[in-house]
Amino acid sequence: MTVDVLLGLQWGDEGKGKIVDVLTNSYDIIARFQGGPNAGHTLEFNGIKHVLHTIPSGVFHKNKINVIGNGVVIDPIIFKKEIEGLEKFSIDLKKSLLISKKAHIILPTHRILDAASEISKGKSKIGSTLKGIGPAYMDKTGRNGIRIGDIISSDWKIKYNTLLKKHLNLLDNFKKIPVYDLKSIEKEFFKGIELLKKFNLVDSEQYLFEENLKGKNILAEGAQGSMLDVDFGTYPFVTSSTTTAAGACTGLGISPTKIKDVFGIFKAYVTRVGSGPFPTELHDENGEKMSKIGKEFGATTGRARRCGWIDLVALKYSIQINGVTKLMMMKSDVLCGFKKIKICNGYKINNKVYHHLPYNINSDNVEPLYEEIEGWSENISNIISEKKLPKNFINYIKYLEEKLSVPIVIISVGPDRKQTIFRENF
Ligand code: GDP
Ligand code: IMO
Ligand code: MG
Repeated sequence: MTVDVLLGLQWGDEGKGKIVDVLTNSYDIIARFQGGPNAGHTLEFNGIKHVLHTIPSGVFHKNKINVIGNGVVIDPIIFKKEIEGLEKFSIDLKKSLLISKKAHIILPTHRILDAASEISKGKSKIGSTLKGIGPAYMDKTGRNGIRIGDIISSDWKIKYNTLLKKHLNLLDNFKKIPVYDLKSIEKEFFKGIELLKKFNLVDSEQYLFEENLKGKNILAEGAQGSMLDVDFGTYPFVTSSTTTAAGACTGLGISPTKIKDVFGIFKAYVTRVGSGPFPTELHDENGEKMSKIGKEFGATTGRARRCGWIDLVALKYSIQINGVTKLMMMKSDVLCGFKKIKICNGYKINNKVYHHLPYNINSDNVEPLYEEIEGWSENISNIISEKKLPKNFINYIKYLEEKLSVPIVIISVGPDRKQTIFRENF
């Protein structure tokens, strides 16, 4: 009956994978709605850590259906690696994974174009994950893309070669391009295509509509975060898809009137990987401490994530754009041991104070305005009941709920499934 949406409210890596996995018990279908293998969603249980890129985070639960929606872009090479990685856990995704025929394909040349584009930007590069995301979405909106449904059509190779030729022409326009061996990448690519053909390729919007009518519960899983949204993020340092709640409608074909809850996930502090403005970024021992305790390295690229204090200007903006109904705070354990916790409540730009996200921010012109509260020294990573949480931590939660006007219903205190506190208001 229900369709709920779960998405990140910051610059990605909030912990979406962990929470989708934790919530999957309450749903019949988990459906990814946008992004591609730029995502890295981490799940931990039974002492094993899994990182998923294209495949929805409900796959470790029996008798659940996982859907890759039309809004997702799929790299057949990465998809094949993910499937092979899951095989050792005896997960038969041929039955439980449905792939939209309308999802677009990332070609090897999309990745090369991504790298060439970044090289050409020099110091102002986006800091892309170099997975070909931007070029693939450009072909989608430019109406040149190839979709999953095309791989089973008789003119698939013609379509592939037409787009390949266009890409090679485009690459000729770049002064500098990365070294690449197209033939060997294509070999892997076509193996991935053959594997994709063995899966259940469907009109997923129709499937979801019918299942919903039958009373099935659907959880729409977002990738990246609202501040990386192509419209509302810190443009141009964003990704190329709609990462906000609207993306669940366009990326799955679900009507807005069907959506009940929008779960917004945020870290108790902030991280960002790649370039772009980050008003509360820390370049001191506090930032280093967050990075070290939080093990802040990208799940997809391994790059160090930049760390900083929580930013309520950006968070309020994300809550507003998404219509968040319930908040979930992640990595709360990481802030243990900080004497004071800083909270950014405003930006000062050219002597003017802002409480909303202005048109353009860049890290040089924004002075974050902070309030400070007392930190806590108690280790909270083994706590399972909110009643046992330290007083100063509860004060932090209360402070945030008051400023954000949305209840925090889950508190995550560690990477494992079990390290999750469901509050009484859940
Ligand atoms: P996603 O992209 O939003 O799914 O997030 P990532 O998986 O990229 O990054 C989140 C990282 O934090 C992963 O390594 C998780 O295992 C880890 N994590 C998630 N929740 C918690 C938490 O509450 N505490 C700690 N210490 N780690 C967490
Ligand atoms: P998950 O789903 C964090 C960032 C990149 C770069 C910008 C554009 O794991 O939260 P792209 O490859 O999309 O062209 O990169 O967006 N980025 C992410 N940062 N988590 C992600 O996904 C990200 N996906 C893209 O670092 O700054
Ligand atoms: Mg991630």
